[in-house]
Amino acid sequence: MLSFSFVFATSLLLLPSALAFPQGDDNHDFKAPGDGDVRSPCPGLNTLANHGYLPRDGKNITIPIVLDAAREGFNVQPEALVLAARISLLTSTYAYDAFSLEDVRLHGTIEHDASLSRMDEALGSNWQFNEDIFSTLANSNPGVDYYNITSAAEVQHLRLEQSLRDNNETHNTFNELTMRSGESALYLSVMGNVTAGEAPKEFVNILFREERLPREEGWQRSPIPITIERLGALQQKVSEASDWPGPIEGQCAWVRTSPRDDLDIVGII
Ligand code: HEM
Ligand SMILES: *[C@@H]1O[C@H](CO)[C@@H](O)[C@H](O)[C@H]1NC(C)=O
Ligand SMILES: *[C@@H]1O[C@H](CO)[C@@H](O)[C@H](O)[C@H]1NC(C)=O
Ligand SMILES: *[C@@H]1O[C@H](CO)[C@@H](O)[C@H](O)[C@H]1NC(C)=O
Ligand SMILES: *[C@@H]1O[C@H](CO)[C@@H](O)[C@H](O)[C@H]1NC(C)=O
Repeated sequence: MLSFSFVFATSLLLLPSALAFPQGDDNHDFKAPGDGDVRSPCPGLNTLANHGYLPRDGKNITIPIVLDAAREGFNVQPEALVLAARISLLTSTYAYDAFSLEDVRLHGTIEHDASLSRMDEALGSNWQFNEDIFSTLANSNPGVDYYNITSAAEVQHLRLEQSLRDNNETHNTFNELTMRSGESALYLSVMGNVTAGEAPKEFVNILFREERLPREEGWQRSPIPITIERLGALQQKVSEASDWPGPIEGQCAWVRTSPRDDLDIVGII
């Protein structure tokens, strides 16, 4: 009887907070996407969806939904992501204030060439995980069990060299450098330590390969908030260490402003 009433009391206590979540009664366990669920080129967003911090179907994502999910799942603060979140609305195929994870595959809005784990759009799937592409990162920083600023920067450099060699449509401007360095800073921070700029290889590999939070392996959400200041400082260090060769001659920064060709203004910055 005692245990029954304890369970009962506990479930009553949990009920209001469970209802307060926009995603309902989600306990944030990992569940791989199923039929009809959509995913993106972003291992961070996909992981948040696989754990129910984002809608598990990957659809109808608003700015508050994505910013809350990143804070709850990864302790990334809203200011650090609000720009990316707002820009992603430009890719939406069905609403002014919401997007689906498949929308953000649109090349040239956020999605770019020389990714860490996806092919260039001109060469193949720009959104599905690709182990060949990822091998540059997976083989980096040999001899130790963590990735750091030096290795992340080197991987960016090598991946860009590969794109410049294999893809004559590569876009490589300051915009792409900034986004790519921000993404490197993000995997080091959410899987490791934003101040040290280091993350265990095992955790980062699981984030990319399985799009899963490596809780059973010992990962814990960053105990300190991943703020725009901390993330920006790390992004800057990775960017500087990446020995960027500069833009392709004559190429200006650009952004695709709509998924509809007839509405798209390829803005030159
Ligand atoms: C929640 C924290 C986030 C983490 C940890 C994260 C992490 C990453 C990483 C590591 C990549 C690089 C993937 C690669 O190069 O193979 C990436 C790419 C991307 N992210 Fe995120 N991200 C986060 C939030 C966001 C947000 C808020 C958006 C927009 C709503 C976004 C959209 C994208 C897109 C479109 C790409 C593809 C870029 C490309 O490689 O072409 N991410 N993200
Ligand atoms: C949810 O997203 C889908 C597209 O992914 C759209 O067709 C549908 O109208 C959206 N639903 C709501 C309630 O906005
Ligand atoms: C990253 O790790 C490698 C291997 O231990 C080391 O040589 C390098 O100095 C480290 N970089 C930083 C910024 O600590
Ligand atoms: C890029 O290479 C492809 C295949 O080799 C070729 O068909 C295309 O014309 C080239 N495009 C440019 C812009 O050079
Ligand atoms: C992160 O790294 C910093 C600086 O190297 C260190 O002081 C701090 O204790 C680390 N935090 C965690 C949670 O390991």
